[in-house]
Amino acid sequence: MMVPSTGALFVAALAVCHAFAANPEITPAPTPTQALDPRAAGASGTPILSTLAYPYTALPSQVYPFAVLRGPQFGYNQCGAANATDSANCQTLVLNNASDFCLWGSPTKQGTIGDIEARVVSYCTDPKWGGRPIPAGAIHGVQFMRTSAYIQMVGFIDNTALNLLSDDSGGELDPHGADLQGNPLGGVVYSTDPAFSPDGGVTPGQVMNWNFFVGSNTFCFKLCYNNITSPDYCENRYDLIGCEYNMPNALATSTFESCDGDVQTPVGTYTTGGQTITWRMPDPLVGDPPYTPNIPASRDCQTYSSQDLFANLAGASTSASASATGSAGASATAGGSGSASRSASGSGASSTESSAALRAVPILSLSLGSVLILLGGMLVGAVSLF
Ligand SMILES: *[C@@H]1O[C@H](CO)[C@@H](O)[C@H](O)[C@H]1NC(C)=O
Ligand SMILES: *[C@@H]1O[C@H](CO)[C@@H](O)[C@H](O)[C@H]1NC(C)=O
Ligand SMILES: *[C@@H]1O[C@H](CO)[C@@H](O)[C@H](O)[C@H]1NC(C)=O
Repeated sequence: MMVPSTGALFVAALAVCHAFAANPEITPAPTPTQALDPRAAGASGTPILSTLAYPYTALPSQVYPFAVLRGPQFGYNQCGAANATDSANCQTLVLNNASDFCLWGSPTKQGTIGDIEARVVSYCTDPKWGGRPIPAGAIHGVQFMRTSAYIQMVGFIDNTALNLLSDDSGGELDPHGADLQGNPLGGVVYSTDPAFSPDGGVTPGQVMNWNFFVGSNTFCFKLCYNNITSPDYCENRYDLIGCEYNMPNALATSTFESCDGDVQTPVGTYTTGGQTITWRMPDPLVGDPPYTPNIPASRDCQTYSSQDLFANLAGASTSASASATGSAGASATAGGSGSASRSASGSGASSTESSAALRAVPILSLSLGSVLILLGGMLVGAVSLF
């Protein structure tokens, strides 16, 4: 199974700890007054990534050049068609609609999100945004959804198209992170969606709060409107329970659509017996969450063919028969991965909900948390900083 047991994860976390610091000692959890990790950003010279705002046209070459904590950032933020190559290290990501979007992926071949979360770079369908090109035939279904509080994009993409190991179960990325420097450090997200664009849809506007899961040949990406902070639909404390809970959706393999939809119930919240309950995710996760998420209603869906949306991807023009073969093989792969994760989650999702089952496991977040706990610099309660 791709999702390791929590026991295995803990052992893996300890192994990483030992790599970082020989003979760590377990110290008692600090009291709540010590809750602020002294090594989180926020002091002078260490800005909190999610507070750094720039017009798209005035981005500095690096938004996080600070050599503190995990800094400076790996890549750069001035990105454009001129450098949209396979080796681009662009960390400005643009997500507009079902055909025009970028995703975070590995800067090196065979990466795993756990290892490269601080250094991910953008991969795009359009060279205009300066990311590495997403190859033709790699995307096997997408759903773009606009709601009153966020836009959301979910899809199936071959892990390898983002330079991830083919069996990486992935993880979660957001502009916060335990130390508030973000994953990736210096990563900024923009959209031309009218909810963000300063000029009604031409120039991308910055998205201050977002979260993203990728792994198991699946991704989900939510861009929360800047004017809606409560409830926080881009909550990032539920990073071990994947797209199924964080962005419940009914995406089916080989379906390409763009819809309007209702907002979801915030992750962790559910009602039972007329009572609304907020469940907090334990870390490490033990067992399944105590509820099955509801999939929000969607309406006015426009449906497309893959060809309609992605005819311009790198390699797409080589031959028509190649693309036909590619998509047949592809849907088998995506379906297989979907059903594997579905049986892992045991949530009994229907056959059209295969993407919903991704259980992303951010191995580095876990091990970093454990390192901090072992070094006495952070308590379990400080998980709220994630
Ligand atoms: C990338 O290309 C754009 C123009 O397309 C340019 O403005 C930017 O400075 C370049 N960035 C780097 C890092 O070369
Ligand atoms: C996405 O936006 C681009 C312009 O940014 C537009 O050309 C394209 O038609 C849009 N695609 C969809 C599916 O809305
Ligand atoms: C928040 O912004 C969205 C997108 O621009 C807009 O549609 C909505 O009316 C705004 N909501 C509030 C409560 O201001």
